[in-house]
Amino acid sequence: MNLWEIEVWLHVVAGITWIGLLYYFNFVQVPALAEAAADKDGPGPAAISKYVAPRALLWFRWAAVVTWLSGAAALETMYQGEGSGFVAAFTLSDPGMRVIGVGAWLGTIMLFNVWVLIWPNQKKVLGLVQASDEEKAKAKKIAFLASRTNTMLSIPMLMCMTAQGHGLPF
Ligand code: HEM
Repeated sequence: MNLWEIEVWLHVVAGITWIGLLYYFNFVQVPALAEAAADKDGPGPAAISKYVAPRALLWFRWAAVVTWLSGAAALETMYQGEGSGFVAAFTLSDPGMRVIGVGAWLGTIMLFNVWVLIWPNQKKVLGLVQASDEEKAKAKKIAFLASRTNTMLSIPMLMCMTAQGHGLPF
């Protein structure tokens, strides 16, 4: 295995961990918690909120960091042109790096959403930091919208990522 293969392998494993958990939140946990809260005779959502959600969020946010760092490293290693592959991709200046550059931008916006919108607000929702009921309700809305946005962005982002090695799907 050469350096680029190691970087991309790490990137793909971390990326699967991140986006897998993103889909778990959006397609499994959010609807399940709503159902548990509505089921007055059931066990309620407390155990999921206390034991599952914080652990899932821990893997989620750090997998996002590893995905970004390994992706940035792979951009440098794979670049055959003059200067920096990272700069060439993010400035969309090299035609050969344009599609991966768009994907890298989408991934960067998603990382921002994880660390700036989802995680600080989830800390309030889960009671990991002090917040009033009103603040919790607002935090829940922001975290939910950011998470849904990332789910939508993951589709074009993954198209851009795989396009580099496998061609565009359209
Ligand atoms: C948002 C989360 C991301 C996920 C889930 C993701 C996923 C992937 C996947 C699955 C591949 C493998 C493509 C293939 O072999 O066909 C890939 C390739 C790659 N990604 Fe990402 N990626 C993400 C973000 C990023 C970011 C932010 C960067 C740069 C800063 C980046 C840079 C790269 C590079 C350089 C490759 C290698 C492309 C090639 O095959 O030549 N990725 N990514």
